[in-house]
Amino acid sequence: MTKANLISRLKIYRKSFCGIKLKGISLIWWLILSLSLWSSMKTLRNYMSQTDDEGHSNFQSSRNGAVSISKTTELVVKKKEWCGNISGDANFCDLEGDIRVQADKATIFLMTSNETILNSTRSWDIKPYPRFYVPNLRHWTVKLVRYNDKDDNVSLCTQNHNNPSILFSMYGHSGNYYHSFSDLLFPLYITSFEFQGDVDLLATDYRVSWVTKFQDILSRFTRQPILDIDKENGKIHCYKKMFVGLKFYRDLLIDQSAPEYALGVSMPNFRQLLRDTYLLERKNATLGSVNPRLMIVTRTKTRIIINQDEVAQAARELGFVVVLAEADGSTNLSKFAQGVNSCDAMVGIHGAGLTNMLFLPDNGVVIQLIPLGGIEWWAKVDFGYPPAGMNLRYLEYNITTNESTLGKLYPSDHPFLTHPETFHKAKWELILKLYLDNQNFTIDIERFKHTLVKAMELLKN
Ligand SMILES: *[C@@H]1O[C@H](CO)[C@@H](O)[C@H](O)[C@H]1NC(C)=O
Ligand SMILES: *[C@@H]1O[C@H](CO)[C@@H](O)[C@H](O)[C@H]1NC(C)=O
Ligand SMILES: *[C@@H]1O[C@H](CO)[C@@H](O)[C@H](O)[C@H]1NC(C)=O
Ligand SMILES: *[C@@H]1O[C@H](CO)[C@@H](O)[C@H](O)[C@H]1NC(C)=O
Ligand SMILES: *[C@@H]1O[C@H](CO)[C@@H](O)[C@H](O)[C@H]1NC(C)=O
Ligand SMILES: *[C@@H]1O[C@H](CO)[C@@H](O)[C@H](O)[C@H]1NC(C)=O
Ligand SMILES: *[C@@H]1O[C@H](CO)[C@@H](O)[C@H](O)[C@H]1NC(C)=O
Ligand SMILES: *[C@@H]1O[C@H](CO)[C@@H](O)[C@H](O)[C@H]1NC(C)=O
Ligand SMILES: *[C@@H]1O[C@H](CO)[C@@H](O)[C@H](O)[C@H]1NC(C)=O
Repeated sequence: MTKANLISRLKIYRKSFCGIKLKGISLIWWLILSLSLWSSMKTLRNYMSQTDDEGHSNFQSSRNGAVSISKTTELVVKKKEWCGNISGDANFCDLEGDIRVQADKATIFLMTSNETILNSTRSWDIKPYPRFYVPNLRHWTVKLVRYNDKDDNVSLCTQNHNNPSILFSMYGHSGNYYHSFSDLLFPLYITSFEFQGDVDLLATDYRVSWVTKFQDILSRFTRQPILDIDKENGKIHCYKKMFVGLKFYRDLLIDQSAPEYALGVSMPNFRQLLRDTYLLERKNATLGSVNPRLMIVTRTKTRIIINQDEVAQAARELGFVVVLAEADGSTNLSKFAQGVNSCDAMVGIHGAGLTNMLFLPDNGVVIQLIPLGGIEWWAKVDFGYPPAGMNLRYLEYNITTNESTLGKLYPSDHPFLTHPETFHKAKWELILKLYLDNQNFTIDIERFKHTLVKAMELLKN
């Protein structure tokens, strides 16, 4: 996490999720129909030709680079802007027509001869990642271009594709387990849903280890291998429909007002997809069981529960069967998800490990322990609000000075402990170091028991 991350989180928090208006549902259905037609055509082509997606351009060109095109590939007249922000600051373009992706220029050209369209905004600078503030993302330009415009000198297609495509950045916070789901996998699910697997994913800032780790989920979004678009120098990939960026509404949440919701996009359906992917057997938690299973998400480097054994013991005394689990980078995700799914409740310190709530069965309970540091609001955004959308119940426990090692470093009336928010104005790295990386906990068992009892009550019915 970076300072920019904090600032933007503040921004996102303050902003209402206005978002640009998407096209009506009927048009989306029309698109699905036409896309299924495309894909049947593609299947046919697969039988007829071994060189699928590698065909020559079907456009005729003259010497000066001018291009004449058949009517079907002329730019579709749009009633809205081609590019905007889907919500908050998430750049997003919805393109249709004669689209040409030139990797070496990091540019996507939209060809047209319509002067009215060419008179409007003609170019956009796009960061195809849901959080615009993430540094070092490859920028892409989306550009409206007149046929035979010598200045732009757009090359002819070298690869024509019948599938629609989605171009997105795989960098950002993809090294973080939480952000892998909140910034990439869930938004990819939302964005690709309408294509039902018949879509090409073009990744800029490609990360091979990330693809390997989440291959099982990614293969639910597309039947094609993901293309490392940055390596496609010298080629022009052409599409008739393309999204640039990912649809992102809120962290691990999608409102019923989102147009995709009407198509069947929802967090419960995403969780069903995860259950299918990782062969998770339990859809519902076992309510009323005398011995519900509680997973304690453990950490080994920072934000450690020093008296974890006592916490586990207290939970056992209240009737829980306790499972201790630590997920690190090398964990077999499928196996780990199955372990989580076998539990009815999960407790852990604010941190990426809580993302595993995605695999808990419905009606399960999530308990977030929130460290000192005035981070309650984003603890809520990350792990407090999403459980409701997952049909899970949520409890939180605010750690006090007495329970934190920070309480031993500073006098109890020190502003660092009493008014942590004021320190948020300082460098984010400092906050991270002082509040998040430099704190272990000795949980007050008597106080925490109340939270465990509440969890047990919730699991009764
Ligand atoms: C989208 O968000 C970015 C980042 O905040 C902002 O610079 C840009 O103006 C926004 N674009 C639109 C069309 O609102
Ligand atoms: C050109 O685009 C404008 C605005 O999008 C549209 O009203 C007009 O019908 C288009 N002209 C042609 C010839 O397609
Ligand atoms: C484009 O804009 C120019 C002036 O900015 C105007 O003279 C011209 O009529 C416009 N063309 C169309 C097709 O709207
Ligand atoms: C257009 O492309 C051709 C072939 O790649 C090249 O020879 C020519 O110089 C280019 N023109 C401009 C204006 O970039
Ligand atoms: C899960 O619980 C819901 C009620 O919360 C119930 O309607 C549904 O039938 C249950 N599903 C299974 C598979 O037990
Ligand atoms: C991960 O665990 C599952 C069973 O839970 C197993 O089928 C699979 O082979 C394992 N994958 C790796 C890479 O070990
Ligand atoms: C934790 O602290 C926040 C912020 O002070 C507060 O809104 C919330 O109610 C507290 N939660 C509990 C369970 O006390
Ligand atoms: C913290 O510990 C002190 C001394 O043990 C005690 O007096 C105080 O009530 C405790 N505060 C909380 C919030 O538990
Ligand atoms: C927290 O515990 C870990 C593991 O025992 C230790 O390496 C680290 O230094 C501790 N941090 C603090 C702030 O006490």
